[in-house]
Amino acid sequence: MNIVIFGGTGDLATRKLLPALFRHHKSSRLPKEVNIIGIGSRSLSNDEYLNLVEKKLNEHLKESEFTPNQIDLFLECLNYSKIDFNSSKDFETLNNYNLSKSKSLFYLAVSTSFYTKITENLNALGSINSDSVIVVEKPIGEDLNSSVKINQSLASYFDEQQIFRIDHYLGKEAVQNLLALRFGNILFEKVWSNIAIDHVQITVAETLGLENRGSYYDEVGAIKDMLQNHMLQILCLVSMEPPTSINSESIRDEKLKVLRSLKPISKDEIENNCVIGQYKDGAIGGKTKASYLNEEGVKEKSKTETFISLKLQIDNWRWSGVPFFLRTGKRMSEKRSEIVVQFKEVPHNIFDSDQKQKNNQLIIQLQPEESIKLKIMIKEPTASGFKLQELPLDLFFDEYYEDDHLDAYERLLLDAIERKSSLFMRRDEIEESWLFIDKLIEAIQVSDLDLEKYNAGSWGPSSSDLLIANHGSKWNNDE
Ligand code: BG6
Repeated sequence: MNIVIFGGTGDLATRKLLPALFRHHKSSRLPKEVNIIGIGSRSLSNDEYLNLVEKKLNEHLKESEFTPNQIDLFLECLNYSKIDFNSSKDFETLNNYNLSKSKSLFYLAVSTSFYTKITENLNALGSINSDSVIVVEKPIGEDLNSSVKINQSLASYFDEQQIFRIDHYLGKEAVQNLLALRFGNILFEKVWSNIAIDHVQITVAETLGLENRGSYYDEVGAIKDMLQNHMLQILCLVSMEPPTSINSESIRDEKLKVLRSLKPISKDEIENNCVIGQYKDGAIGGKTKASYLNEEGVKEKSKTETFISLKLQIDNWRWSGVPFFLRTGKRMSEKRSEIVVQFKEVPHNIFDSDQKQKNNQLIIQLQPEESIKLKIMIKEPTASGFKLQELPLDLFFDEYYEDDHLDAYERLLLDAIERKSSLFMRRDEIEESWLFIDKLIEAIQVSDLDLEKYNAGSWGPSSSDLLIANHGSKWNNDE
């Protein structure tokens, strides 16, 4: 089998894909006689490429994960080809690998603007056959129109079952655990609706800034980089109906229904339902951080948002009247991805009215630690009287499973090799989410929504707190 990585010298390949492939190789999870071909536009000899990869593996793997001998064995499977993606002539160097007669996985770890040209050239070379699969990175396109075009061009050479649209959040163990929590337990499903839930919060906060990706990020911003894909996918998994089975089509059918039920935010509603922000300078963990406008690759006076928070409604029976608050941002106070399900108050209070009764809260933390916390009311063991107290039922996954799960890219690469598609996005899901995002962006632009500045190291603009305060609640920042 061939694994052909376009963008083989890039950040994604050297930081995520090649370390993931190394781990699989070390654990004999890759098919026998695998041939990994890194493709890039840099003029490198094979040896120079192998040196580069060796250096990156040393940098990105934990010391305990490898021995020099294991790296040498992995490098024996690796080759490099310099190809200009627009040049059909350059693609001919791939003839050395006999792609037409073998099974290949093409991984496009490059800008989506190259997708069409690369697939055209692969096709012209006769490299695509019914055993081939193609893996493409998000965001697919920059709006509905461009994503339809890309999807159409992929569909000219590959069947839908051969196309793996990656969203690495779906490969995270914690995100998949949402399925187990929701559908492996009767406990939650029965209260998982507007009957018992007041609202849901989804936060994906990062302390990172642009990490040498300034020119890419400045074109996309938080809406296209995070909301269109990772955030909406988490929202789907939290809110979808029970699928009939764990198979890929059932899950993707249910996610699609959620995306179709998302109520678009009109220009008149945008101010009360959406906050966008951009970080200025500040400090995180005692270290000063430059403002977005001073990051390399960012245009002068750029209006790109590095933060967004939203109040969303899912227009269906289950969720009618339950707001979903989503927020994501760069250079925030801490790295934290979590889902907070805030339950309603009990229908009738039997305790003294001076008893502070808090409503149940389920906090599913996806990152940095994977945990599930259910806050419940108990009786405080006091000598006299009856006092209520809130305590958490905690489940920290690390206490049960030590380091033995696959990281997101390892899981997804393996699934793509084995042609398992449930953790990948289907074409209609992508297009439906763009439909929602296009309308959102249009409403933001037409209404000229303020781009609010926030300090690096904070939880975003103060209007974001107001957004949720208007519902009588607050973000779960303190835990
Ligand atoms: C990527 C975004 O998809 O996800 C990055 O392009 C972001 O901007 C990253 O930093 C976050 O992923 P994780 O796994 O670190 O939460």
